[in-house]
Amino acid sequence: MQVADFIFSLKPYEGGKPIDELKRELGIEHVIKLASNENPIGPSEKVIDTIKNAAKDVSLYPDGNAYYLKKVLSEKLNVDESNILFGNGSDEIIELLYRTFATNPNDEILYCFPTFVEYKIIGASFNKKIVELPLKDYSYDADALIKAINSNTRLIFLNIPNNPTGTIMRYDDVKNIIDASGDNTLIVIDEAYYEYAKESSDYPDFLKLYKLPNVVILRTFSKAYALAGLRIGYAIANSEIIDYLNRTRPPFNVNIIAQAAAMTALNDDEHLKETIKINELGKKYLYSEFDKMGIKYIKTYANFILFDASMDADIVYQEMLKSGVIIRSMTGYGYKTFLRVTVGTMQENRIFIEKLKKVLNV
Ligand SMILES: Cc1ncc(COP(=O)(O)O)c(C=O)c1O
Repeated sequence: MQVADFIFSLKPYEGGKPIDELKRELGIEHVIKLASNENPIGPSEKVIDTIKNAAKDVSLYPDGNAYYLKKVLSEKLNVDESNILFGNGSDEIIELLYRTFATNPNDEILYCFPTFVEYKIIGASFNKKIVELPLKDYSYDADALIKAINSNTRLIFLNIPNNPTGTIMRYDDVKNIIDASGDNTLIVIDEAYYEYAKESSDYPDFLKLYKLPNVVILRTFSKAYALAGLRIGYAIANSEIIDYLNRTRPPFNVNIIAQAAAMTALNDDEHLKETIKINELGKKYLYSEFDKMGIKYIKTYANFILFDASMDADIVYQEMLKSGVIIRSMTGYGYKTFLRVTVGTMQENRIFIEKLKKVLNV
C-alpha cells in the first residue's frame, strides 16, 4: 500500500509507559506511574457509581449534542451552550481545529517548543508547515511569536500552563498576540491544567477572551477531573467557531459513559478540592526534597514538575523504570538532562524521591 511521504514520515505518539507493561517486563509487583499527569487519587466514588449506572445504556448511541452535560457546564462556566463543544479528549478537538480551519496548503501553525507534542504530531498528519520557536526562560515567548505571525499563520497554540515546563503566560502577552493576529488566525489557549493553575492568585482569567472572533479555549476532564481513560474534553469559543467545529465533528464522538461521568465529576466539588490539596502538598514536598538534593526545577502551575538531573535523562529514566517508577525523560524535547514527574500521592512522591536519590547517588 502506498502512502504519501508526509504520512510515511510520521511517528506514532509515545505516551507514558503503561503500568502493566512494566510489571510484565520486569516481573515486579509494585510500579508507580508518574508519567502522564493523571490524577493520582482517581475518580470519586460518586463518579464510579455513575459509570456503573451508565453501563446499562451502552447499547444506545450517545447523545451527539451532549445536551445534559452541556447544560451543566454552561451553568458552571456562565457561558451559553452555543459556546461549548465536547471532544473525545481535547486531543480530538485539536484535530478538529486543524481539519476545520487549516484547510489551505500554505497554512502555517505556530507555537513555542517544548510544549504538548500533539500540536506537532497532528499538524504533521495534516501535512501543515509547523513553525516552532524556542521557549524563553522555559516560557512561551510572546514577542517572538508576534514577530513570526504572517498572513499564512492559521493556528497559534498557547499551552497555559505549558506541558512540560509548568509555566504560564501573562494576560497582556496573550492579548497582544491576539491583537497582532488577523481575523483568520485562530489563537488556541490550551488550559488542560486549568483546575490546578487557577489555585495561584496570579493565574489570569483567560476565559473572558472566549467571545473574541479568533480565540478558542480548550480544557479537559483528563487531568484534575480524573477521567483520562474515558476521553472527554471541551472547547469554549464564540458560537460561529463552535458551529464550524460541529460541522466536522464525528456525530457520536463522546461516549455515553464519559458524558455521564463528566456530569457527576463537574458537580463533585469536594473531590476536586481534595485533588488540588494533594497536588499542593505534593508540590511543596517535592520542591523541598529537590532543594535538599541540589536539583534545579521549574516552579509549576500544574500537576507536574520539570527537573534537571544534571546527567543523561534517558539513563535516569531507565534506572527509575528498573526500580518501578515511571517518569518522563525530556531528551526528545531537546532537554538532555531533564525529566518530568507528575505529582503523585504523598506515598508515591516519597517512593519517587527515595528511588531518585539512589539513581542519582545523592
Ligand atoms: C497540554 C495538553 N493538552 C491536551 C492534552 C490532551 O488531553 P486529553 O486527554 O483531553 O486529550 C494533554 C494531555 O496530556 C496536555 O498535556
